[in-house]
Amino acid sequence: MPTSVIVLALLAAATVVRGATVPDTNAEPNRPKNDHKVIILGGGVAGVIAARTFHQHGVKDFVIVEARDELGGRLRSTSFGGKTVELGANWVQGTQTGPNGPANPIFTLVKKHKIKTQLSNYFTSLTTYDNTGAVNYMDVFNASIDAYVELTRTAGDRVPQNLVDVSSRTAYTLIGAKPQDAHAKAAEYYQFDWEYAQTPDQTSAIASSWANNFTFDAYQGGFSDDNLLNIDQRGFKTFIQEEAKEFLKPSQLRLSSTVKTISWSRSGVKLVLTDGSSLSGDYALCTFSLGVLQNDDVTLTPQLPGFKKEAIASMTMGTYTKIFLQFPKKFWFDTEMALYADPERGRYPVWQSLDHENFLPGSGIIFVTVTGDFSERIEGLPDAQVKEEVLGVLQSMYPNITVPAPLDFKFNRWRSDPLYRGSYSNWPPSFVKQHHDNLRANVERLYFAGEATTQKYFGFLHGAYFEGLDVAKEMIKCIKHHGCVGLQHYNEVKNAIPYGII
Ligand SMILES: Cc1cc2nc3c(=O)[nH]c(=O)nc-3n(C[C@H](O)[C@H](O)[C@H](O)COP(=O)(O)OP(=O)(O)OC[C@H]3O[C@@H](n4cnc5c(N)ncnc54)[C@H](O)[C@@H]3O)c2cc1C
Ligand SMILES: *[C@@H]1O[C@H](CO)[C@@H](O)[C@H](O)[C@H]1NC(C)=O
Ligand SMILES: *[C@@H]1O[C@H](CO)[C@@H](O)[C@H](O)[C@H]1NC(C)=O
Ligand SMILES: *[C@@H]1O[C@H](CO)[C@@H](O)[C@H](O)[C@H]1NC(C)=O
Repeated sequence: MPTSVIVLALLAAATVVRGATVPDTNAEPNRPKNDHKVIILGGGVAGVIAARTFHQHGVKDFVIVEARDELGGRLRSTSFGGKTVELGANWVQGTQTGPNGPANPIFTLVKKHKIKTQLSNYFTSLTTYDNTGAVNYMDVFNASIDAYVELTRTAGDRVPQNLVDVSSRTAYTLIGAKPQDAHAKAAEYYQFDWEYAQTPDQTSAIASSWANNFTFDAYQGGFSDDNLLNIDQRGFKTFIQEEAKEFLKPSQLRLSSTVKTISWSRSGVKLVLTDGSSLSGDYALCTFSLGVLQNDDVTLTPQLPGFKKEAIASMTMGTYTKIFLQFPKKFWFDTEMALYADPERGRYPVWQSLDHENFLPGSGIIFVTVTGDFSERIEGLPDAQVKEEVLGVLQSMYPNITVPAPLDFKFNRWRSDPLYRGSYSNWPPSFVKQHHDNLRANVERLYFAGEATTQKYFGFLHGAYFEGLDVAKEMIKCIKHHGCVGLQHYNEVKNAIPYGII
């Protein structure tokens, strides 16, 4: 055994003994107030699951710092038209196949905390419209489902052949799927943009296919193709808030505390909050959204190294906006969903009825979703103008009735919100795996986790869950062994073959 190995073995043994003798106190003795072993920045799914992981591994001296007045992050419910509706995440995406298949951990938590959900049949319970009214183009819609599956296959074929990534637009074109008219464009939108919150042109073919397969395709290691829609009137966030109650002590949570500055170094991390107070930790885990990191809402000192800046700037933050309307009574389709094909692609295309026997019958509530650049556009408009446009679309879907005035109208501006700056991340075509490793890598004692740092499940609640768990475990290894090498990063991401013009 070489000496270094012996030394490591001794160190490890010493750590085990130490772990067994130090009593499990919350704050460690001799630590000043506001100084902790670990600070967790953000109380969304990643932050709460990281906290639970520290707790379970005996690292009890941590604190969650969260700007909002409750836990949940992008699980955000609101009361609307006398009901609770979800401005943020509303589905468990992929459940479990058979008793032994991999389970979506969100599915597991939802069952544990008895959250009321309903199966959402959004590929089969659908009515199609265009600007002349109800028009059946289910054949076109069905063809778009087949084209999407073909896209994931052609993207998958590139991997073993070591072919470069391409945009999903390129992949669609290569398989001959070239939507030309409004119906075909709307059908493609439903398969693609409505999931990734950006267009096929803006999205990697390989990475988006991974995200799809690892979530929905049981043959590819995914959970299942079932989606459960939250209808629990306590709000979808209840599953994570109830989970937190099981282990989190009041002293381990600082709500209504907005971080302004993060100073990181080899020896620890210091925070300054907007109220002027400060906090320090031997280690910190930042779970703020990619959008927050991109928009300098929080100042990092020193500035992040080049490799990290490039990774943060290169992944994209998509936007997914749900626009809620409540009417005196339901006058629309009896299916769960409707697809509206406007001459302009992405203009108020996906309609979801909550006034449906499976969801919130009698509520008079329907919502329409827009994404990507169109979301950004409407965030810049006054509510009244968006409302008028939306009602205009409904009127063209129902030419034979007079659409009544809605009782209530609401949408959330995720992209303008300095705590989010978008809805969830999306992997662009010019982003390579090493970039993503860099997005996830720590800088000294500052670590990063959240839906954007997972390569398999970016964008999803379960992605945030797995990252909270896995990055906390990496940190625990360091904490228990007093120093570590950290997560892999690449100082420069280079071409395999240099670009050049001869
Ligand atoms: C509209 C919408 C629909 C979605 N639909 C689904 C869905 O149906 N199914 C699904 O699986 N996923 C869905 N998602 C994605 C899912 O919500 C996210 O992937 C997940 O919630 C991200 O969790 P997180 O812990 O990584 O980040 P967050 O939830 O963003 O947690 C980070 C926390 O940091 C806090 N914070 C930010 N800045 C500061 C600061 N300066 N100081 C202090 N605190 C700060 C934030 O308030 C937040 O609570 C949706 C998201 C949106 C927005
Ligand atoms: C509207 O009414 C006309 C005439 O009665 C009818 O032909 C058409 O199918 C109706 N359109 C819709 C969308 O119901
Ligand atoms: C579309 O697919 C569904 C489900 O496979 C099927 O029931 C329906 O008949 C198809 N419709 C058309 C018009 O092809
Ligand atoms: C996705 O799943 C399909 C099977 O449906 C498979 O052929 C393809 O290779 C997978 N794609 C990726 C990128 O793994």
